[in-house]
Amino acid sequence: VEPRGAWQRASSSGTRPLALDRDRFMALHDRRRPLYEEAADGYLPAGDRGLVHRALPAVTTLLRAPAQTKLVWATSRSGEYPVFVGPGVLDAAVWPTEPAGRRICVTDANVGPLHGDRVPAVDATVTLPAGEQHKTLATAEHVWRELARAGMGREDELVALGGGVVGDLAGFCAATYQRGVPVVQVPTTLVAQVDSAYGGKTGVDLPEAKNYVGAYHQPAGVLADTSLLASLPPAELAAGHAEVLKTALIAGGELWERVAGGEEVDATVILACIRTKLEVVALDERDEGARQVLNLGHTVGHAIETATAYARYRHGEAVGLGLLAALRLSGQDELRQQVASLLERAGLPTRLEDADPAAVTDAVQRDKKRRRGEVRFVLVRAPGQIVTGQAVDPDEVASAVQELAA
Ligand SMILES: NC(=O)c1ccc[n+]([C@@H]2O[C@H](COP(=O)([O-])OP(=O)(O)OC[C@H]3O[C@@H](n4cnc5c(N)ncnc54)[C@H](O)[C@@H]3O)[C@@H](O)[C@H]2O)c1
Repeated sequence: VEPRGAWQRASSSGTRPLALDRDRFMALHDRRRPLYEEAADGYLPAGDRGLVHRALPAVTTLLRAPAQTKLVWATSRSGEYPVFVGPGVLDAAVWPTEPAGRRICVTDANVGPLHGDRVPAVDATVTLPAGEQHKTLATAEHVWRELARAGMGREDELVALGGGVVGDLAGFCAATYQRGVPVVQVPTTLVAQVDSAYGGKTGVDLPEAKNYVGAYHQPAGVLADTSLLASLPPAELAAGHAEVLKTALIAGGELWERVAGGEEVDATVILACIRTKLEVVALDERDEGARQVLNLGHTVGHAIETATAYARYRHGEAVGLGLLAALRLSGQDELRQQVASLLERAGLPTRLEDADPAAVTDAVQRDKKRRRGEVRFVLVRAPGQIVTGQAVDPDEVASAVQELAA
């Protein structure tokens, strides 16, 4: 309950001793807020009375979930869904959707053998080769045809078990197969658990540019089992740190302080990242305004991935470099230095190697967020103060990319 609503309810009788003075009430609410946040098992948006009924199955599911499980209720213009987060949540009797038809799992060749048998009641599995180079239309066609061969219908459910590549690709297949079937995202990398599994952006890359073909398709639910990260290779875990850093820069406040202070990325930090992303998506599902902040570091990051044929850098690594470029373009030298040290500490690159800076600068010009032929940037005023839609002199962009390679 937001403080204003709480005040209205508590003060209306005029008999509650702690709700007689509005200012004192608000101050008390402020003081207690961190405790409420910490003690909560679930986070539901305030002020939507009908939500109680819609979210009740998810809330009662928490009773069967491992003790540390948290529920976040995700909302957006086109749909809402439960997100369960915590260690062991995949092995418990927790599933974010009601049983409907059959369940078909899409995974990759690394994740399937490690965790495939943890997904309950799977009728068929489609296993893809691992890696960004396979986030293509050709792979999507393979998935569509496997789904057709398995006889998948609209009452059936797709499960995307894997990192962001599987999540984006399976999500895209779910958005388009028979014009849309439900997908449950089960993210298994840090990138996917803090970012890509939520918000409904799905798609594939083209050789010409990243994520150039896709659809918005909100998941029917997300299960983020943080214990799955134990099998993640260290370099992949590091790549996830870049998205954590990006999210912390966007959120500012406590999350930024924890991340900037070098705190370990645990389930609490993951939860804070999820809530930050979902708050943004709730305001703007389709990148028309508020959501653009989430592209921080991605304009140059995506260009680096495209210019290196999706083979040289992990997505998170490219985003880390993109963050440095964005901070240069923001004129934030001190913050840039701080972020560079944090990237280094996480084992992430801070120099662009094996890439032609001119090719990266060219790829920047093909960014999807171009308006009237001009690429727009997301810039940082300070942690928590992000500005979008900023036009930047192309020479400055070229020198920010050059600087990465220097
Ligand atoms: N849709 C969005 O909003 C959004 C947001 C951020 C990123 N993305 C996309 O996400 C993709 C990057 O995702 P990623 O970094 O997860 O890469 P990824 O999916 O390629 O996974 C990285 C590697 O880790 C392996 N792996 C995954 N989980 C594992 C586990 N638990 N144990 C062992 N190995 C495991 C995978 O097989 C792969 O080799 C990019 O394509 C990016 O565009 C999308």
